[in-house]
Amino acid sequence: MTIYVSEISYHKAQSTFERLSAETDYTFTPVAEEENALASAISNNGIKAFIADIFPYNGALYDALPAGGIIARYGVGHDSIDKTLASSKGIHVANTPGVLDNAVAEHACWMIGASARHLHSAHASTTSGHWQPKGGVELRGRKVAILGFGRIGQNLCQKLSFGFGMQVTGVDILPEDQFAPLKESVGFSHYTTDRDAALAEADFVVLLMAVVPATKHIANADFFQKMKSSAVLVNSARGALVCENDLYDALEQKHIAAAALDVFEAEPYSPQSPDKDLRTLPNILMTPHIGSNTEESNAAMAATAAQNCITILEQGPDACPNIVNR
Ligand code: DGY
Repeated sequence: MTIYVSEISYHKAQSTFERLSAETDYTFTPVAEEENALASAISNNGIKAFIADIFPYNGALYDALPAGGIIARYGVGHDSIDKTLASSKGIHVANTPGVLDNAVAEHACWMIGASARHLHSAHASTTSGHWQPKGGVELRGRKVAILGFGRIGQNLCQKLSFGFGMQVTGVDILPEDQFAPLKESVGFSHYTTDRDAALAEADFVVLLMAVVPATKHIANADFFQKMKSSAVLVNSARGALVCENDLYDALEQKHIAAAALDVFEAEPYSPQSPDKDLRTLPNILMTPHIGSNTEESNAAMAATAAQNCITILEQGPDACPNIVNR
């Protein structure tokens, strides 16, 4: 049986998909992401399962897959998939939790470290021959607020706390007693549900929460006003958490010192307003959604997404632990 794989995901983990095609009864075949062409290919070839990268799907895909079909996210976030629509058509949606935590947390460390020492502008000034050394700050003793204190947030906390000696405040909506037993192993200094209090203290604010209606554009003008003017915003989660026009103003008017973004409202990045292009600002570091894009994590995401499909096809959805629209 053929399982379709978004060609972006396929090329990130080609050797794993080739190995799985050789070792299982399934052939993993790359397909272009565009929804209408994908939907036609799925209908014409009687495909039951599709492994999806980050490209959003809102329409034709859900009519093309049969009831009992599968959309398996290659990744943990599933905001790009319409779960309500999928459920109404009897389509199962799965993801790959756990296997990319270390990759995303390491990338967030590099965003924090690069911002602290201005590595991006230092590289540009050195290679352009201008040689403009700019002083930075040390991480040791600095305060970081991690907004979204799930698996990735806790992994990042360990790295920043035990590795760099930072004081970490975990911020989430769950009651504190759920986190208290983890204090020593995860290494946070504080846990709070009071986001504003954490913002007021932090030298670095890292976004690691899911995007849902309550968190869309959570980082807006009001949020930036609450941050210290010396603070850095890091977004390792989803672009829609940040109002990019408000961020542009906050960076330009120096309400906050800098931002480091791996994710954007539109990917590939394009400005939300033509006159507020984040790429024109000196105090920003941008990377093209590469947090989970490592050799190790790609191999694990491919294997988990494939296994999700195989388990659902062979044993039914109840046997798959990673369904997100049960
Ligand atoms: C995820 O896992 O959601 C990453 O953003 C990659 O898609």
